[in-house]
Amino acid sequence: MKTLRRNLELARAQPGEASDLSRLAFAAKASHGYGADQMAAWRTDLTVTEVFLEAHVTWVARLDGDLAGWGVTVAWGRRCRLEHLWIAPAYQRQGIGRILLRHLAMEARAAGWTELEILSDPLAASFYQRCGAQSAGDVALSDGRRLPLLLLSV
Ligand SMILES: CC(C)(COP(=O)(O)OP(=O)(O)OC[C@H]1O[C@@H](n2cnc3c(N)ncnc32)[C@H](O)[C@@H]1OP(=O)(O)O)[C@@H](O)C(=O)NCCC(=O)NCCS
Repeated sequence: MKTLRRNLELARAQPGEASDLSRLAFAAKASHGYGADQMAAWRTDLTVTEVFLEAHVTWVARLDGDLAGWGVTVAWGRRCRLEHLWIAPAYQRQGIGRILLRHLAMEARAAGWTELEILSDPLAASFYQRCGAQSAGDVALSDGRRLPLLLLSV
């Protein structure tokens, strides 16, 4: 466990936390203002299972013991991809996302990666750019949307 500033701790997610993490991801995504139908369509993508948590090192941020956010990277072919990064609405814009992303980047670097690939929600792309990621075009999805692709040197 790592204490990064007063009352903020980063720690590995524990077995049994999948439901809490999924709920937080859903609330974080909804904070962009997406409609109920769209959110319902994304529910599966925003759900993590205990099996996923067992298979991937997932980091949570706790502020005064409260779950404030979480994130995880995965190996994606020959690249390391940011698979999830979510900050609970009540804790957004307080610097926690930047700290968590920096930590995930350090972990990726320790694992031998040099770059983190980020397929971003369009409304979060500026956050990644503020954190040093470079725009690398966009990617077309099967549902017709195009998502910004960013690369972060780690
Ligand atoms: C996007 C998210 C992870 C950022 O985390 P955060 O803790 O709110 O961001 P921080 O407070 O660390 O912000 C770091 C910088 O990015 C900026 N920023 C944060 N969110 C932003 C956004 N959505 N758009 C533009 N800038 C943003 C902050 O103002 C800050 O700027 P600074 O360099 O001037 O200080 C978080 O707000 C979130 O979970 N949003 C909803 C879900 C989401 O989009 N997740 C990412 C999926 S790809």
